[in-house]
Amino acid sequence: MATPEGASARAGAAQGAIRRVKDAALLVEGGVLAFAGTDSEFVRRFGEAPAAEETVLDGSGKTAVPGFVDAHTHLPWDGFRENEFNRRLKGETYAAIAAEGGGILATVSATRAASEETLRRNVRRRLDLMLRHGTTFCEAKTGYGLDLPNEKKQLRALLQGAKGHPVGVAPTALPAHEVPPERRGSDALRRRYLQECRAEILPALAEAGARFVDVFCEEGVFSVEESRAILDAGKAVGLVPRVHADEFTPLGGASLAAEVSALSADHLLYATDEGIEAMARAGVVATLLPGTSVFLRMNRYARARRMIERGVAVALGTDCNPGSSYTESLPAVAFLASVGMGLTAEETLTAMTLNAAASIGEATARGSLEPGKRADVVLLEASSLEHLVYHWGINLVSDVLVGGERVVSQGDLLGSPAS
Ligand code: NIG
Ligand code: FE
Repeated sequence: MATPEGASARAGAAQGAIRRVKDAALLVEGGVLAFAGTDSEFVRRFGEAPAAEETVLDGSGKTAVPGFVDAHTHLPWDGFRENEFNRRLKGETYAAIAAEGGGILATVSATRAASEETLRRNVRRRLDLMLRHGTTFCEAKTGYGLDLPNEKKQLRALLQGAKGHPVGVAPTALPAHEVPPERRGSDALRRRYLQECRAEILPALAEAGARFVDVFCEEGVFSVEESRAILDAGKAVGLVPRVHADEFTPLGGASLAAEVSALSADHLLYATDEGIEAMARAGVVATLLPGTSVFLRMNRYARARRMIERGVAVALGTDCNPGSSYTESLPAVAFLASVGMGLTAEETLTAMTLNAAASIGEATARGSLEPGKRADVVLLEASSLEHLVYHWGINLVSDVLVGGERVVSQGDLLGSPAS
């Protein structure tokens, strides 16, 4: 077994502090871990090893780790953008493709045209794939509706898709992902959309079950001032801020995240030293998305080592979306985090479990294998934690427990048809 420990984000050297137990035993009671330690301690405390029929799962030869937590996804969308991907392979840039009507707005049209039922099924299928790759909890955003009815449709599809699914979802309201096409003719129209976001869309999404508010704070999208106004409006209706920050330019999103007490600032490829220091002081988690760096062929990663050195807790997410990172696999992202950004195997595990849980406000309940935490457990077909980043391109997830219930067995989903 390998696990971070604690009920809050681990920063600095603590991010690499992993408890490793050889010959480990876990005991689940009422969906919660009652014991996590060595076999011999288990026998000492509880008398004897459980009888074979009581043993939920025999993990001999495998490595148990906490269920993975995906700290940043965009799940309720329709329409692939594989042509844009191929255009980038031929040398075009993300920005140039977006300027010609591709990019986020292409997914906005497809998502607006899709029925709620189609979106619900898409969410369900994506959650199934995430679970097979070890994810047991995730954050997921709206942001491809960009008007009241379609943002609400996305949120309902997300909540309905997640209903009864083993993977838990924390929903984020992201109407300020872009300016919608019908509000682009003039400054007045643009201002009107921002006003709609603040006065109508965010309150409606909060009412319908969103927990977080996010904004794409980026040159050519929303300025720092506009982003602040969006995040403040979200806070006013009870939503907790998180920010798409400093992804393509050093606009100041990291500092803004610190200023508004965001739980998380995400992307951060261009975060400045000042932004990193501000995040460290405010305790904002850096949710890094190396899959996006590679997918967009950016030849650049967020400065994860600097962040860790300066005491910022680093988390990971897939950024699962059709345009900038189409994957449901956190282990794929873990590989990139290690070889691309230089996180160690231990730091990577903390980033995709405890720190990711902290970035979603879930670290007291999830993210580590410790008594009192939910029994969300992944068994890796691997003799050590290192294999998670070393044996790459392979799905090592053999079994998954969610709340103590076995939901993946030897790589197969149990009882969760993608319907
Ligand atoms: O997180 N950065 C902004 N939004 C998404 C991209 C969405 C898209 O291209 O559809 C992201 O990478
Ligand atoms: Fe994103």
